[in-house]
Amino acid sequence: MSIQLGDTAPDFTADTTEGPVSFHDWKEGSWAVLFSHPKDYTPVCTTELGYTAKLQAEFAKRGVKVIGLSCDSVEDHRGWSQDIADTQGIAPNFPMIADADRKVADLYGMIHPNANDTMTVRSVFIIDPNNKVRLTITYPAATGRNFDEVLRVIDSLQLTDSHKVATPVNWKHGDDVIIVPAVSNEDAAQMFPDGWDEQKPYLRVVAQPS
Ligand code: BEZ
Repeated sequence: MSIQLGDTAPDFTADTTEGPVSFHDWKEGSWAVLFSHPKDYTPVCTTELGYTAKLQAEFAKRGVKVIGLSCDSVEDHRGWSQDIADTQGIAPNFPMIADADRKVADLYGMIHPNANDTMTVRSVFIIDPNNKVRLTITYPAATGRNFDEVLRVIDSLQLTDSHKVATPVNWKHGDDVIIVPAVSNEDAAQMFPDGWDEQKPYLRVVAQPS
């Protein structure tokens, strides 16, 4: 059974480039992004890990810890990190799990045998402070992910957790949002005293609450 939204993210212990990690203890009430890449010393993965390292300040600003994974050794992760620094201008500044025995990959369903039976696919799990899985993404090996999109989803999750709104297509932080249908107009008037644009009774657009 694959991991689904709302499930508790399975706990595990693993060796990483920053020493042994016990996942739930390591997260310790933070948001987390756990992501797998297929293999060290491969080109698309090199670009992904460099870009993710460049976003570190953005993740930190949102209270998010990042951790990577592939079925390689700590030694390989460390050697490859130098290549990432050489080519992308920055080395990974987050722990990388060495999952040579595929323990974590199997726990999270990161190996899709019909795609490849030894390498992890490009999985992303966004996990909230209560250890609930809030987003899963699966990309194939040849397609690099958009980590700006991962940040965008975190912005949406954090906003919609604290206000009774939802975010529309292609929303980004600061754009207008939608009042969720479960909120009556009477209650909406209390929550959004400056009013909203009622395009349909079920489509009420309002400025993003701060
Ligand atoms: C890559 O990162 O470039 C890659 C890894 C595995 C399969 C295909 C591409």
